Amino acid sequence: MSESKTYKRTLITTALPYANGPVHIGHLAGVYVPADVYARFLRLNGRDVVMIGGSDEHGVPITIKAKAEGVTPQDIVDRYHKIIKDSFEELGISFDIYSRTTTQLHNDTASEFFKRLYDKGEFVEKTSMQLYDEKANQFLADRYVTGECPHCHNPRAYGDQCEACGTSLNATDLINPTSAITGNTPVLRETKHWYLPLDKWEPRLREWILNGHKEWKTNVYGQCQSWLDMGLQPRAVSRDLDWGVPVPVEGADGKVLYVWFDAPIGYISNTKELLPDSWQTWWKDPETRIINFIGKDNIVFHCIVFPAMMMAYGDGFQLPDNVPANEFLNLEGDKISTSGNWAVWLHEYLRDFPDKQDVLRYVLMANAPETKDNDFTWKDFQTRNNSELVAILGNFVNRAIVLTHKYFEGKVPAKGTLTTIDSELIEEVKSLKNEISERIETFHFRDALKKVMDIARAGNKYLQETEPWKLAKTDMPRVATILNVAINLCANLCVAMEPFMPFTASKLAQMLHLDKMTWDEIGDFDLIEQNIQLGEPALLFEKIEDDVVEAQIAKLQEAKKDNLLKKWKPDPQQTDVDFDTFMKSDLRVGTVLECERIPKADKLLRFLIDDGLEKRTIVSGIATYYNPDDLVGKQICFIANLPPRKLRGVESRGMILSAQDADGRLVLITPSEPVKPGCQIK
Ligand code: 2FM
Ligand code: ZN
Repeated sequence: MSESKTYKRTLITTALPYANGPVHIGHLAGVYVPADVYARFLRLNGRDVVMIGGSDEHGVPITIKAKAEGVTPQDIVDRYHKIIKDSFEELGISFDIYSRTTTQLHNDTASEFFKRLYDKGEFVEKTSMQLYDEKANQFLADRYVTGECPHCHNPRAYGDQCEACGTSLNATDLINPTSAITGNTPVLRETKHWYLPLDKWEPRLREWILNGHKEWKTNVYGQCQSWLDMGLQPRAVSRDLDWGVPVPVEGADGKVLYVWFDAPIGYISNTKELLPDSWQTWWKDPETRIINFIGKDNIVFHCIVFPAMMMAYGDGFQLPDNVPANEFLNLEGDKISTSGNWAVWLHEYLRDFPDKQDVLRYVLMANAPETKDNDFTWKDFQTRNNSELVAILGNFVNRAIVLTHKYFEGKVPAKGTLTTIDSELIEEVKSLKNEISERIETFHFRDALKKVMDIARAGNKYLQETEPWKLAKTDMPRVATILNVAINLCANLCVAMEPFMPFTASKLAQMLHLDKMTWDEIGDFDLIEQNIQLGEPALLFEKIEDDVVEAQIAKLQEAKKDNLLKKWKPDPQQTDVDFDTFMKSDLRVGTVLECERIPKADKLLRFLIDDGLEKRTIVSGIATYYNPDDLVGKQICFIANLPPRKLRGVESRGMILSAQDADGRLVLITPSEPVKPGCQIK
């Protein structure tokens, strides 16, 4: 927590997930569980907190999905908003509001925001040439155009990126562009858009982040620094699209606000919806602290673009105090993908694992991708449940309550004089409490959770060392003290675990008759008074058997198989090539004479090849995967009869063949033994 300032309240925002699919464990680990832990922790500390969430319901992917299914974008967002909202609620994510960006209030708020910037002259208007589909009568958003990548010649690059070589593209860079809507060849047409000149705000952003927020997580600070060092450019805040908040100025028919312009304003609209009378206090009072929980792909929008929008708007809007963005969570070694169905979907988890919300919350926080990408595996999920939740936490609580039932009929016995081992335990809990608080306040949730578990570990050790079951024969007053301490330790643990595992905390609180919990109570060993009648001991966690996780792994393998099939024929418009056409390709083997990088083109290598007849230059987009020196002398396969093409000023005559791995890696194809350069491939 920033120490130089005191705060009266904390506004927690959570990235608004796109309503084009359900949420998965990657979203949860990156954003929603940490935000919820933080909110619950502050509430236990009696702090004034509001936690804002909602669905991001605009943007191109939603319109593409709607088209593919033959329904309206509204149908799509209605479907997923409900799934997302219900599943968050079931997981105990304690939003004060979870709204959406298709509400009238949001439309009005975003529209007013744009209008004010427009009236203040904060935008620059620019015309540019964009691809237009004359058959569909519309401009084509980047993802609506496919074509050949100018760098690696992948024939199915998208208008914003080539997934084969990873280069970011403009749709107008594509060779032979095709409209994904009609299959037509689009034409270039002039269009006007509004741009926010980020360069104007660069000095203020620099000062605010690089000088003012050195305490931000290194991944966040580092990304901001590299954006700022590259120099900021004006960014278009409108799009030619019929789904979104209409641009509220004359002559803007068919144009909407860019989804990344309206989405963060959603935080403001949702606060307004929740607190129509006092929302301004939560956004404009300097004594409010704003914390944005997001994933790493959202850093630039929250640290640069949205703050610049607020600076341009003025009127006292406060910038975030911290943006604790997380890295990504992978699944069984591969990147989570919504479109590739490579995910553990929250709504399916809740169906397959009823009443095990806290197990997922625990595993995701114990393995949170706070400083680097982490991996979720079902085996790890099972191990953490069985060896940590069951064997450490559940076991301690169960032993304490069962022993109290056994020796005192479930009535909490009176404490006698404390011995060293009791006092040491109490001191340990007090110091763990401070460590947990410090970790949560600085967004180190994984460490904090480990320390919560240390309380349970300390409890097990205490029972192991004091052995009340042995003393029961000789010294019942001492047994009473031990169990009083153990039950109070359960109560301490109950409070400490609440932010992470609220369902278990509430179950345990019921057994202990602990009513309202506060963070201050941790360290208090008179929390559960003597003679309180404990409820029946119920297991807090149960073992997860092998067949249960194996079924989940099998489900993922099915998804992998489906994806492989899709990769075989990713493009439904791709037709078979007739034999005669194929036979026209002149495929040959060449020997690499020279190979070097092309300056300012990260992905490209220039090859000089002995093709059997002469020396030929070919440019290939494989620089990411090979060191040019290692390739000299190697034999490669290439297409010899393509028309020459200039790439970054170098004329390339042909195309080198390589195989592409599932993760996009390119591997050169070479003959299995040396042959004469110029040999034809048959
Ligand atoms: O990356 C995403 O899923 C975006 N929908 C996040 C938006 S965050 C905020 F700006 F609304
Ligand atoms: Zn490419």
